[in-house]
Amino acid sequence: MKILIIGGGGREHALAWRLAQSPSVKKLYAAPGNPGIAQIATCLPVTDLSPASLVAAANEIDPDLTVVGPEVPLVAGVVDAFQAASRLIVGPNAEMARLEGSKIYAKSFFQKLHIPTAAFLNTVSQSEALAALDHFTYPVVLKADGLAAGKGVVIARNRPEALAALPFLGPNLVIEEFLTGEEVSFIAICDGRDACSLEPAQDHKRVFDNDEGPNTGGMGAYSDSSLLTPAQTEQVLNTVIRPTVDATGFAGFLYAGLMLTADGPKVLEFNVRLGDPETQPLMHRLRSDFAEVLLATAQRRLREVKLDWSPDPSVCVVLAAGGYPGTFATGIAISGIDKSDGVVFHAGTRMGSANIETAGGRVVGVTASGSTLPAAIDAAYQGVRPIHFDGMHFRTDIGRRGVTRYNSAQLGT
Ligand code: AMP
Ligand code: GLY
Repeated sequence: MKILIIGGGGREHALAWRLAQSPSVKKLYAAPGNPGIAQIATCLPVTDLSPASLVAAANEIDPDLTVVGPEVPLVAGVVDAFQAASRLIVGPNAEMARLEGSKIYAKSFFQKLHIPTAAFLNTVSQSEALAALDHFTYPVVLKADGLAAGKGVVIARNRPEALAALPFLGPNLVIEEFLTGEEVSFIAICDGRDACSLEPAQDHKRVFDNDEGPNTGGMGAYSDSSLLTPAQTEQVLNTVIRPTVDATGFAGFLYAGLMLTADGPKVLEFNVRLGDPETQPLMHRLRSDFAEVLLATAQRRLREVKLDWSPDPSVCVVLAAGGYPGTFATGIAISGIDKSDGVVFHAGTRMGSANIETAGGRVVGVTASGSTLPAAIDAAYQGVRPIHFDGMHFRTDIGRRGVTRYNSAQLGT
């Protein structure tokens, strides 16, 4: 099989890394890819990720199958364009991608299908938003309607904070109840009829240790089966994923950001793609021939394949550029990637004149596994050690919540 991967971040490097090990893959392409992906695939120099550019790139190489990483081309209709050109592709069409592209649409959808979610009001003007605030206690959660790369959510601790946030979020808002509990990234692969859950993962969205500081795209993630019991997994499949597939014919990766509340799992948001950085530990744990799974998905015969996972937890630590998630410099030389014992997934890197250098906020993700979660954490941080670039920062507590949970379960508390 010839496979084209759309995207060029850490998630797409992890996909490429896993697919490069599939016996059924003869040739891998990425559009646009990155220097890490370029070691195992041919990178296509697309100038943008519009459906037209991507169809043109696919026409050059004639792939048997395409898989889409980021949300922007999905929302723009890349799947519709590929299907119109009779090309097999894994991903939702533009209509289904609205579940991520518009938070207002998603919340109305949850309500219509009785999918458990935080109590909410949708607003379309500042005055409506002001009136809606009276119906909530604090803290309250304010979400801008459109795609915001993780930056459109404000948790206001009191009314002055909520009022201060309103002008930055625009008039179209979801205002919702603040939920507490453990967050889990629940991702299912769907073929329009059937759905199969991947192993659970947990992201670390805040920039600093102990979940402090502003939100980022994700500073690290781990995957560990003990994040959910089999009964919780079945519950989420039955109350969230299957109703969505039945109602929409959803195809591709459906990612439910869950809060495990005292009243059971509730959906914070839908994404219509794999998570970044959750995909890095997930691909690290996956044992199945992923190319066969993707092909079966695109051909609506997901029920014929099975996902097989390593029981060992896996951890990915993101190394970020100085200043990220605020402004940061690029073009800074990176050393030591080849000395790491971890699997180093490139995210924001480029080839400089002599050296590999930084090209984004999240630069690389160092991924490793172990027979226990503490062992996996140790292995990932060992893998970080040789890598350096000026200004580099990372969280030192990726996976620690999982260890705390594990220890309390052992003590029966
Ligand atoms: P979202 O983009 O909707 O996933 O929101 C980003 C982050 O904000 C989530 O990962 C949560 O940590 C937090 N968040 C979103 N909605 C809520 C909520 N209703 N209650 C508590 N925290 C939330
Ligand atoms: N890691 C969160 C996301 O991919 O949206």
